[in-house]
Amino acid sequence: MNKALLLAVAAALLPAWAAAQDPRKPPARAGIESGSYQWNAQEGEKIEALRLKGDAKAGKEGYEVCGACHLPSGAGRPDGTFPQLAGQHATVLIKQMADIRAGLRDNPTMYPFAKELTDAQELANVSAYIESLCIPVDHGRYAGKDATEQITKGKALYEKQCLECHGKSGEGDKGKFFPVIAGQHYEYLLRQMTEIRDGKRRNANPDMVKVIKPYSNDQLVAISAYQSSLVMAGSMCKAGPAKPAPAAKPAKK
Ligand code: HEC
Ligand code: HEC
Repeated sequence: MNKALLLAVAAALLPAWAAAQDPRKPPARAGIESGSYQWNAQEGEKIEALRLKGDAKAGKEGYEVCGACHLPSGAGRPDGTFPQLAGQHATVLIKQMADIRAGLRDNPTMYPFAKELTDAQELANVSAYIESLCIPVDHGRYAGKDATEQITKGKALYEKQCLECHGKSGEGDKGKFFPVIAGQHYEYLLRQMTEIRDGKRRNANPDMVKVIKPYSNDQLVAISAYQSSLVMAGSMCKAGPAKPAPAAKPAKK
């Protein structure tokens, strides 16, 4: 390309570049509007962070800023404003962070912090640290008087259409980027599923979107009630200060 053409191209790209620099706004993600978005495309800092070995010890420091909202234990808040993160698969954490940075989830509260975590090694470290924490048992559950009924109804739905990916105890699948659901707050689960169904959370697995599309609000309540009752044996503990998962062995290297 000659110099004049190069300058012309640069000038044409400048507005897009300026928009990308606006710290308040996540960049628009190419492909979403045109429908060519590919779920979990392996690119950018995500693929780099996934390849690296996360150092949980080093990640503890990086997590401090996150703990302001998600709490030092990773437990989040039962009202669902801040999700429970402890024990989540590192792969899922890396994917969600990359997606939040790419503007695929509306998260204005956290966006400025996600934006800072650009270093792939640091992202891998923080994710390894979060994964090493035990899942607190006293999270937000469905509190209605009809809890037994809702849980029974939700269990039938979950086992039919969700268990395949999220597992019998809500353990997800690390290799496939399927999140841990066990220990998550009822209110957060309900909000996420509503947003996935309604297309507001734009990074969701297309097969899950297909499954959840026909669900009514009442069905989402029941299925959230059930999910928040799930227990992953051996990975849960009483909430409190940050604790390693009971199953976690001291890191040997
Ligand atoms: C100012 C508060 C705040 C801070 C600081 C913050 N987050 Fe968040 N985070 C949120 C909120 C709010 C959500 C839920 C957004 C939603 O409802 O979709 C969230 C969601 C997430 C999710 C998605 C969870 C899921 O289940 O899909 C991950 C992962 C996450 N945060 C990790 C982090 C990490 C790592 C840090 C530190 C670098 C951090 N957060 C700092 C507020 C915060
Ligand atoms: C094909 C596999 C698959 C199926 C089937 C599936 N999910 Fe998911 N689910 C995912 C993936 C992957 C994510 C993470 C979103 C993303 O980044 O794609 C997710 C996200 C979620 C979340 C949000 C978790 C979080 O931490 O933010 C909830 C809640 C959930 N699924 C519940 C369900 C329920 C209930 C069903 C059944 C009606 C279901 N899923 C069916 C793969 C699946």
